[in-house]
Amino acid sequence: MKAFAVLAPHSAGRVPVHDACRVRLHDIEVDFAIVEQADITMDAADPRHAHDVLLQIGAFSCNYREQARFLEIARRTDSKGYLVLGSEFVATVLATGAAVDELQPGDRVIGNGAIDASASHPGLTTQRGSAELQICHRAKLIRIPAMMPSADAAAFSIAAQTAYAMVRRLGLRRDEHVLVTAASSNTSLFAIEALLGAGLHVHALTTSPHIGAHLAQRGLHRYCVLDRQQNPAQALATYLDAQGLRAFDAVIDPFMDIYLRKLVPFLRRGGKYITCGVFEQFSRPHEPFQYHGLSLDEMFSLIIRKSIHMIGNNLGEQADLERALADYCAGRLPVALDSVHGNGQLDSFVHRSYLAPDRTGKVVFDYHLPTVEKRAC
Ligand SMILES: NC(=O)c1ccc[n+]([C@@H]2O[C@H](COP(=O)([O-])OP(=O)(O)OC[C@H]3O[C@@H](n4cnc5c(N)ncnc54)[C@H](OP(=O)(O)O)[C@@H]3O)[C@@H](O)[C@H]2O)c1
Repeated sequence: MKAFAVLAPHSAGRVPVHDACRVRLHDIEVDFAIVEQADITMDAADPRHAHDVLLQIGAFSCNYREQARFLEIARRTDSKGYLVLGSEFVATVLATGAAVDELQPGDRVIGNGAIDASASHPGLTTQRGSAELQICHRAKLIRIPAMMPSADAAAFSIAAQTAYAMVRRLGLRRDEHVLVTAASSNTSLFAIEALLGAGLHVHALTTSPHIGAHLAQRGLHRYCVLDRQQNPAQALATYLDAQGLRAFDAVIDPFMDIYLRKLVPFLRRGGKYITCGVFEQFSRPHEPFQYHGLSLDEMFSLIIRKSIHMIGNNLGEQADLERALADYCAGRLPVALDSVHGNGQLDSFVHRSYLAPDRTGKVVFDYHLPTVEKRAC
């Protein structure tokens, strides 16, 4: 079976690969490859697999947080082997354990990262979603509708579930105004669609001017483009003024280390701030913004004086993913796809996933696309 992986420096040339590609990322040479691994099987009659499902992955995509894991491998000159990647996937059920009665061979499924008490294994389905054959617990999978194309399905579960959870947990009223930061991130693109679908007042903040055209096409004309080198206070004050607003009622933010200290002054008294992540996940710090915002002391003080609700969010509940799938089926949740790549297109997949400043949406690798002759990386 195939898997998408980052090779440790001493493994390049020693691991069987179908395709390989070396790129420089955050000042490190990273060897990506489609590696060949031994197939796995599952004895469906084995009681230890009673709740398990054997899957054949058709397509997958990667997420921001994976970069920290693979950069660590790429840096370790003493290590061998490789790290299989992949966050979101679409798969076909090959076999089911004896206690699995809701899924059948042939069903198409995606991951279910549910963290609610009903899920026996809270959290991500897998961190190696590109491995073509996988055994997963039934609770970590959800069936998808037949009308959902593989590319959309392979781009869906984590961002949709997280975005829908954040929107639910904010509990916004129809007259409230919510700001979504890092609008071109995949998480925020799903959050924006979820908010628009719910008929809420949405504002977007981005440092990527190219995303404006995509947002406008989606009917979102209220967005503010920030310069990464500038203190955003003036731009935000001017933006609010132009919108006839004094402050935002709520913020959805995937990168709280970038935005929290800058946005607390622009949140109303009693407003809500929900965040699902940080920008600085890599072990070598870099500077996303020259201006950092309020000092920590000032920020703590302002959060208390304004009685702001701070909410941390990890993934979501099964019902969030179900609502997202229902909205998808009803045409209320289009999936932003940047590009889809197949066998022989590892270099373009890596480039669009990690190096393209104009990326707009998820980048998918589909094992079933016809093989394309390889170009130089
Ligand atoms: N806890 C959870 O359950 C969960 C689930 C999903 C995601 N997350 C987290 O959500 C975050 C986003 O993940 P993702 O996969 O959606 O990310 P992504 O699609 O890779 O988005 C990256 C975004 O970062 C912004 N950016 C890039 N370079 C920047 C810079 N130098 N300065 C400022 N902004 C910059 C850009 O947005 P703009 O240019 O538009 O500003 C870019 O689109 C991560 O922290 C991830 O760990 C958490």
